[in-house]
Amino acid sequence: MAKKNIPKLGLSQQELFHEMDNSMHSDMDWKSGKTFGAVYYPGEDYSKVISQAYVRFMHENAFDPQLFSSILTMENEVVEQTASLFSHEKDNLFGNVTSGGTESIFLSILSARNWAKNNKGIDKPEVVLSSSAHPAFLKAMHFLNVKAVVIPTKKDFSFDLDSFEKAINANTILLIGSAPNYPTGMMDPIESLSKLAVDNGLLLHVDACIGGFLLAYLKKIGKDIPLFDFKLSGVTSLSVDLHKYAYAPKGSSVLLYRKEELRKEQFSVYPNWEGGIYGSTTFLGTKPGGIVASTWMALNHIGQDGYVKLTHKTMDATKVISDYIQNSKDLSLIGTPIMSLLAFNSEKHDIYHIADLLSEKGWYIGRLQNPPGIHLVVSQIHADGAAKELVEDMEEIVEKLNTSTIKNKLSKVGDNLSVNAVKSLGYKSLKKAVVASTGSKNSKKRLIYDLKSSLDLDQSNDLFKSILNRFYQ
Ligand SMILES: Cc1ncc(COP(=O)(O)O)c(C=O)c1O
Repeated sequence: MAKKNIPKLGLSQQELFHEMDNSMHSDMDWKSGKTFGAVYYPGEDYSKVISQAYVRFMHENAFDPQLFSSILTMENEVVEQTASLFSHEKDNLFGNVTSGGTESIFLSILSARNWAKNNKGIDKPEVVLSSSAHPAFLKAMHFLNVKAVVIPTKKDFSFDLDSFEKAINANTILLIGSAPNYPTGMMDPIESLSKLAVDNGLLLHVDACIGGFLLAYLKKIGKDIPLFDFKLSGVTSLSVDLHKYAYAPKGSSVLLYRKEELRKEQFSVYPNWEGGIYGSTTFLGTKPGGIVASTWMALNHIGQDGYVKLTHKTMDATKVISDYIQNSKDLSLIGTPIMSLLAFNSEKHDIYHIADLLSEKGWYIGRLQNPPGIHLVVSQIHADGAAKELVEDMEEIVEKLNTSTIKNKLSKVGDNLSVNAVKSLGYKSLKKAVVASTGSKNSKKRLIYDLKSSLDLDQSNDLFKSILNRFYQ
């Protein structure tokens, strides 16, 4: 029952937990590995211990370093342990725990912007990044009034280093490289970017948010991974999310810097505030102690051996899926992924149609555009049957499409007709129709991608903001 007001008398925990459990029945079955991306789960045993650490510190505030020395010690250990994966032993890096990749990225742009202003007098800062870089960078630059110079990837989806170099000018403050990038899971040429940064006296941020932790462990188990971290002299900052392949709870990332001076530029201090001297190290004010404690617990309880095992499981599951794609006559991998992010398309069938059919079977998967594709972030949870089950479902779907019945063809013709009918409406009516139908069971995302092709950028922005808006009070 919808609760419009806070109940006058608190309800019993039995009643409320019962309601919670009921509401979860319509959620994705993520514990069976039905979601790709979005959820990273280390398994029941680890999760239990990690969540106990969260609960133990859930009321403590990690905002003030002088308040809880327990939390400060844990934050510093998390940073140091993370840094040890990405640097030589003698290196002394600096960093903080943040609430996620987006915050780490935001702070990397903030510190670069402030540093370039204070040290080089640059007032119209520009950052060069590839079109495959995560949108968190565009979001940060939008907030921080920094110009994004976006270099499209090449035809084979690889990084266009020549164009990158040509885009550097006197206002450039920072270069961005991804290790790996999200869309195709390919590594950007970080070694070349490092050289470019050194030669041009620029900062270089490596976005290892999704891949850094796993790449470090792949290296430990003998996989040939190109250098992408502080072992390259041009890398000045690096972000790595611990709520992804380090299996910490949601809200955990580490942003590392080579130099203390640069890290200081991300701090906010207001020494003259009426409320007292105010200082915060990251974007947040109040910062959850539980997340610091549970991240510390994840790193130290799972430990090196645990992460090696989880890495093997992740790569075993990835192999099951990529072998299927590579041996399939109907599907093909996009690019050359280095780890467990897989993107694929089909020359024969509409890949968004395949994606919708997978969604109908209960899978939560990503969709790429330019080119269209299906995107999977595989992790350890998929090793216990989900990877095989996904392959079986894909086999069945592709087989059905190959022997497409008249009914199937007619339904596609019907879809196309309805898309064309909606496209022919004026934008206002189109928006109304699309927003009203969003979120309904089995709504076909393929149709949205198709519709989007008839809109300009302003209309797309408005439509997707309206769709987001529709979900919330
Ligand atoms: C390469 C990369 N960078 C940044 C992010 C943003 O991380 P978050 O969603 O934790 O803010 C992601 C998320 O998937 C990512 O894949």
